Amino acid sequence: MILLGPPGAGKGTQAKRIVERYDIPQISTGDLLRDNVARGTELGRKAKEMMARGELVPDDLVNRMVGERLVQADCARGFILDGFPRTVVQAQWLDRFLAGKIFENQKPCDPPVVVQFDVDYNSLLERLTGRRSCPTCGRIYNIHTQPTRVPDVCDVDGSKLVMRNDDRREVIAERLKAYELQTRPLAAYYRRRGRLVHVDGDLDVDSVTVQIVEAIERFRNAPVGTESGGA
Ligand code: AP5
Repeated sequence: MILLGPPGAGKGTQAKRIVERYDIPQISTGDLLRDNVARGTELGRKAKEMMARGELVPDDLVNRMVGERLVQADCARGFILDGFPRTVVQAQWLDRFLAGKIFENQKPCDPPVVVQFDVDYNSLLERLTGRRSCPTCGRIYNIHTQPTRVPDVCDVDGSKLVMRNDDRREVIAERLKAYELQTRPLAAYYRRRGRLVHVDGDLDVDSVTVQIVEAIERFRNAPVGTESGGA
């Protein structure tokens, strides 16, 4: 499945819940890129400045990185794409990739279910500036809506929480601009394929999860190519 939505919409938060429920991996291009930056790889060196400015990393670099990740064995039962595709060029690349035979002894993948998060602009700002995450387990918190028991300390493993470098107001503005120009058109792209479902991302975390699980189950039970529920 594909999680589509603006920065701060809750894609990472929900992806972690779907991982637990369906036991399929979360492929977050943002996390993969940040890992490359932290390790100082060639890809990380190329991506670092663009990410710090809130711009998208070039399609060919991201597509190659995703292609290398999707052929790993843990993706054979399915996967959650969080933050990918983000441009029409990436979506077209993904269509071609999924139409091919990724794993031995398996037919090509069914088209993905695409979940579009609709969230109020002001909520996005509050969520991003208030986000804190655990550098050890990856758990995501928010000082306003999902605080930790002890301020700035992960509830699960006691690590000191960190704020993302691109969660500063001036960078957030650029990220939202990139979303409007380059990513929002993808909703129409997937709507034409009949696999798009909207969720109300302004609701609390549990209610958003319920909407996503309902959508997954509807599509699992519907023949490929049919439109299934959702606004
Ligand atoms: P990436 O890491 O993908 O960032 P993003 O898409 O901007 O999304 P975020 O991770 O900021 O938000 P999210 O929707 O996951 O929200 P979260 O669950 O954390 O990308 C970073 C950069 O990498 C890009 O700018 C680009 O440079 C590059 N990049 C990545 N992919 C690329 C691609 N495909 N092509 C090119 N470049 C790429 O939630 C946010 C906060 O809200 C948290 O604090 C959470 O606790 C809270 N929250 C979540 N849900 C709720 C709720 N329902 N109610 C209240 N609070 C909530």
